[in-house]
Amino acid sequence: MACRPSYAASADGEGQRIFRFDTFGDEKFWTDTAKMQQVIQSSVSPTLALKVGLRVDADAIPPEVAQAIKAGQVDLNSPATTVTLLKLNAVVGLRGTVETVGGKDTLVRVGITCALCHSNVDSAFAPGIGHRRDGWPNRDLNVGAIIALSPAITDAQKAVYNSWGPGKYDPRYNIDGKSTPLALPPAYGLAHVRNETYTAEGPISYWNAYVAVTQMHGQGNFSDPRLGIAVTQSPDLVTSKLAALREYQHSLSGPAPVAGSFDAAAARRGRVLFDRSCISCHVATNGTDNNSNNRLHSPSETGMDAGYAQRTANKAYRTTPLRGLVQHAPYFHDGSAATLADVVAHYNRVRKLNLTNAQQKDLIEFLKTL
Ligand code: HEC
Ligand code: HEC
Repeated sequence: MACRPSYAASADGEGQRIFRFDTFGDEKFWTDTAKMQQVIQSSVSPTLALKVGLRVDADAIPPEVAQAIKAGQVDLNSPATTVTLLKLNAVVGLRGTVETVGGKDTLVRVGITCALCHSNVDSAFAPGIGHRRDGWPNRDLNVGAIIALSPAITDAQKAVYNSWGPGKYDPRYNIDGKSTPLALPPAYGLAHVRNETYTAEGPISYWNAYVAVTQMHGQGNFSDPRLGIAVTQSPDLVTSKLAALREYQHSLSGPAPVAGSFDAAAARRGRVLFDRSCISCHVATNGTDNNSNNRLHSPSETGMDAGYAQRTANKAYRTTPLRGLVQHAPYFHDGSAATLADVVAHYNRVRKLNLTNAQQKDLIEFLKTL
């Protein structure tokens, strides 16, 4: 029997390292094909980087540099400062290789990691600069606008990428050419979830491999006959890392509700309404009925747009496990509900619940506790 690495070691060591820092060799795409290093070096200042939602890991910045930033002695409008931050490995989700060319720090290679879309920071230092919060989706990150900076894409592609907006990404656009972007989901609170993604395409490692190989353009193997995809690359830099990556994601729990951020009495009344109208699908409140028998819901059952589901293998939506809701507005796969009030109003209409305004308010207070 093969020797398995210890789970504990994976959870806070190897898995975390892979989640935060591993590019799976995707530099060959982001550097050699997309030429992002040229764009960053010539025109992405820290100010612009923060504007498109990129985050800076304050813990990677040496105290003297942090001091200089605070004192206003660092030019945040200069792309050279971005190169310095990449050299310090301080830009969340981006890996840069910086070499001295002609006496000047030059970004020669750049790649992306899982943390790009699924990590945030607490902004303890300044807006967008702080301690890492792995698993928190970065709903300010404008992935489309970032990719659109690449000199290697067509004007038609550029228009599509620029249409997505912050916090959205379409993980199938480069496969089927369609565009129905998804809200970047949390990667926390999944330990008890059987199938990942809005349409329950498969267990966590299935999806991690899909993204690493087909979206990040890492070097590895991924195949799914349902989608007609079969990628084999050697050496495979993805497959051997999936177990540790899974353990790390499963170790991430969602943020706990903050006391005082909701009305406890109203939430208690809301819980009764939830148990009446919602729990048949959102089983055990934080769970999903997909866990038993891989159950899915046709888009019309919950009044969802069918466009994305039709592009997937399962063609229907998984009941989303509810966790950290306050943290990650907007809601539903396409972000079509801007607030929890919109979620409740949506269900009230689509599922004809006849909730009064007061009852809707109570239900919202309960959702804030999840
Ligand atoms: C460019 C942005 C981006 C990157 C990079 C990215 N993801 Fe995702 N991820 C998404 C989107 C969008 C979805 C939603 C897909 C869906 O549900 O159909 C998703 C879905 C997921 C889910 C499922 C969440 C759920 O509720 O079921 C997990 C887990 C996840 N990603 C982990 C990872 C890991 C691990 C990596 C690195 C190997 C990664 N992602 C890289 C954008 C990204
Ligand atoms: C028939 C099954 C079903 C019922 C009943 C149901 N839901 Fe859902 N719920 C779903 C499905 C499926 C999704 C995923 C829809 C999507 O994103 O396309 C979802 C998604 C959600 C989300 C979005 C979570 C996120 O992170 O984006 C919230 C919030 C939610 N439901 C709350 C409720 C509440 C409150 C009720 C009761 C009023 C309820 N649901 C009743 C199946 C159901």
